[in-house]
Amino acid sequence: MTEPHDAPMAPSPGSDTVRTIDLGDGIGPTLPHASELWSQPFDAWTHADAAVNPLRSSQLDHAVQPAAMVIFGVSGDLTSRKLMPALFDLAVGQPLPEGFSVVGVSHRDWSDDEFRAKMREAVTAGSRTPVTEETWQGFAKGLSYVQGDFGDPLTYSRLSERLRAIDTERGTKGNRIFYLATSPNFFLPIIHGLETASVSERQANYLEPSEGWQRIVVEKPFGHDLESARQLIQEMADAFSERQIYRIDHYLGKETVQNILAFRFANIIFEPIWNRNYVDNVQITAAESIGVEGRAGYYDSAGALRDMVQSHLLQLLTVVAMEPPARYSGNAVRDEKVKVLRSVVPPLGEQEVRRWVVPGQYGPGFVGGTAVPGYRDEASVAPDSKTETYVALRLKVENWRWNGVPFFLRTGKRLPRRVTEVAITLKRVPHLIFGGAELEPSPDVISMRIQPDEGIAIRFNAKVPGAGTLIRPVRMEFSYGSAFGEAGPDAYERLLLDVIRGDPTLFTRRDEVEAEWSIVQPILDVFAAPDAPGPFAYPAGSWGPEEANAMIALTDRTWRRP
Ligand code: BG6
Repeated sequence: MTEPHDAPMAPSPGSDTVRTIDLGDGIGPTLPHASELWSQPFDAWTHADAAVNPLRSSQLDHAVQPAAMVIFGVSGDLTSRKLMPALFDLAVGQPLPEGFSVVGVSHRDWSDDEFRAKMREAVTAGSRTPVTEETWQGFAKGLSYVQGDFGDPLTYSRLSERLRAIDTERGTKGNRIFYLATSPNFFLPIIHGLETASVSERQANYLEPSEGWQRIVVEKPFGHDLESARQLIQEMADAFSERQIYRIDHYLGKETVQNILAFRFANIIFEPIWNRNYVDNVQITAAESIGVEGRAGYYDSAGALRDMVQSHLLQLLTVVAMEPPARYSGNAVRDEKVKVLRSVVPPLGEQEVRRWVVPGQYGPGFVGGTAVPGYRDEASVAPDSKTETYVALRLKVENWRWNGVPFFLRTGKRLPRRVTEVAITLKRVPHLIFGGAELEPSPDVISMRIQPDEGIAIRFNAKVPGAGTLIRPVRMEFSYGSAFGEAGPDAYERLLLDVIRGDPTLFTRRDEVEAEWSIVQPILDVFAAPDAPGPFAYPAGSWGPEEANAMIALTDRTWRRP
């Protein structure tokens, strides 16, 4: 059966329900009526009536079934810094079912015990939960290791044997998650290795797998440009159906990014002003104080545009700009995000890119009072590298809601401090009643702080106490930490749990990835030209090159100091 990625299969004539199981969207309490199913562009068909759905309880069971997670590239940084600590925290917090197992795969010559010892170090350094002998032993029972090269067929036969043994010993029943935590050049060799050795299986989007479900998780970068992303999408689609693929953008796992949706769609007060009638401009900033931190091998061929804008910043833009989805479920949310991305008008043609996109590169300077080298002096960076470590750009979202509102995005390494925020600046009041132009109040600003000091602040004007009518801006703040009293889980904890539960809402769908690259590609083309602009120099520890200030000044606006 060909899978209707773009044109859904019709239910049989006369039937008003579709008897298929949705492995992701069906988790939520509200399932769509069959009449709605016709309009679902992807794989969101679910049984129409949850109350009479005989499969409903098995859908919920799906949420917590034991499974084996195979991590390729388990000796790498991502596994020790993020994945293992998150899995341990999940296991101790007990949303993970008994029997959940992890198989590490890498070229290192480790025994199972050596592997466990390494992972214990990683978990001790990175988990939220303190590691005790008892909690560690409980977790370590499920860890094992398979040594091998990713291009060697024997690696996959060993893996297959191990997985079968785990099925018998730990009751994982063929449920598998393959996690590609490797450099992207290994993605396809691993996928082909799994396929050829029949370790993995392409499972139809709509059918309950007869013997265990299989999912694959792919880290960014998903492709190097539009063409390679399309090719990767296609090659992966031959081995796994879209329903099985979880493309990670860890920004979507951040509590505060999800909170933007709650802020917008769980309150009535903001949505009426969330449009071109009230919003003057939107600024999305992801500033980092760190440099390339030993990742120059990857970063020098990526740059800030690919590394941050193509994924994280565009995802932030989608959650700020999207229309309300009908429900909080995988495809309803992602359909709206895709619509926003497709409405983004990239700088059209070369001249607009030159005008509205500013690449920068840090030189030597001081961050937090410490002298740091310039980018070109970092280890493994070519002395004449033109890679941008900073980029600022203006995008427009050309739709009914946002027509005429500029979206300014910027990100950079070696900026004064680490801060990620979205700021919505509102228009000025239409008429001043408080005196002359010198008393003109500042515009109101809603700022959503993604990290650190997670929270939301509203800046508005108030009267200064005393005689007269002096007006001054004041801030009203909501702080995540003090309102809820505890730190939220790490983004990876949330995302790994969603993969295990089979909920794709916070993962990037293939049409989303493609739309993101379509926005970025014309800019990459100009950056690759022999007479490409910049990168413009900025001293480490500053807020970026002067040219970025000049760009936003073209619109009579300035960058916020977050
Ligand atoms: C990664 C980028 O995806 O995100 C890094 O590759 C960047 O270069 C990191 O430092 C930022 O993530 P966070 O969660 O620290 O904001």
